[in-house]
Amino acid sequence: MSRSDEASVTFDYARYLAAKTTVDDRALNRHVLAELRRLMPAGTPRVLEVGAGLGTMVARLIGWGAVGAGEYVLLDADGQLLDDSRRWLRDWAVARGLRAALLPDGLRVGDLRVRLVHAELGGYLAAAPGGSADVLIANAVLDLVDVPAVLPGLLRLLVPGGVYWFTINYDGETIFMPGHCLDDQVMRAYHRDMDERVRYGRPAGDSRTGRGLFHQLRAAGAPALAAGSSDWVVSAGPDGSYPDDEAYFLRSILSTIHGALRGRQDRLAPADLAEWLAERRRQLAAGELVYIAHQLDFAGRVPG
Ligand SMILES: C[S@@+](CC[C@H](N)C(=O)[O-])C[C@H]1O[C@@H](n2cnc3c(N)ncnc32)[C@H](O)[C@@H]1O
Repeated sequence: MSRSDEASVTFDYARYLAAKTTVDDRALNRHVLAELRRLMPAGTPRVLEVGAGLGTMVARLIGWGAVGAGEYVLLDADGQLLDDSRRWLRDWAVARGLRAALLPDGLRVGDLRVRLVHAELGGYLAAAPGGSADVLIANAVLDLVDVPAVLPGLLRLLVPGGVYWFTINYDGETIFMPGHCLDDQVMRAYHRDMDERVRYGRPAGDSRTGRGLFHQLRAAGAPALAAGSSDWVVSAGPDGSYPDDEAYFLRSILSTIHGALRGRQDRLAPADLAEWLAERRRQLAAGELVYIAHQLDFAGRVPG
């Protein structure tokens, strides 16, 4: 989901990405992460993260000890988010007692130089020199682009033997509980919206991005060395409250479905959408709503 999905619904996209952090922390596949750690070059690697949003992944990787020195580039088409990311990351670092300093084009966190690049991926790939990154990361992003068109150019950004880690790739299965008689209709309509979405003048999404990556990575000459599921699983605790800011995360997911399907009577009757949303929002307020989204992670390298 990108901010443009949200043009007509009201929620704070930066807060949504911050709220997503704890959901992703649980979801990221540890077997695939272990492969990333094994492949990660020693010393001061150049890491490029595309569709980096607020920068929560670089914070996570510093916190998990997977990166600490070198350069980490956050690329995103949303300039406002990148602006927010400088201060969000600085505050995150300071709260953990890390040295942090804002710089004109990013910031420094400890020994890591974080650089912000404001660019749309398709345009960036058309102009970028190849072989400029040792590690390439995309988290919750590849399901927002046309993977067959973009993947070869993305992999060309890597040096020979360079490493990729493509995570939280949506894979066509969402479960809301308790079950509702309109669930299948709503999700079918939402998946169709994903499959037909156009952003930045290009096809932008596939509701089964995860499973497609197995053969697309192989076809691009960089088959996965590790793959595994990274499902989002969100539920309330025994006291009926959701952890951290995850109630906001769920509210944002419901708003996204609302934004995608409202005004699309050809896909779902407005009364059905309204009934489904009202019941889901009531369950969320009561701490009864459980949300599961199936996703897949991949790690591998391009030929050396
Ligand atoms: C779901 S958010 C994920 C952000 C971040 N990776 C995370 O997991 O918190 C997707 C991000 O990809 C960016 N994005 C989507 N399409 C893009 C494109 N074609 N070029 C560059 N960035 C894009 C959006 O602006 C948004 O910040």
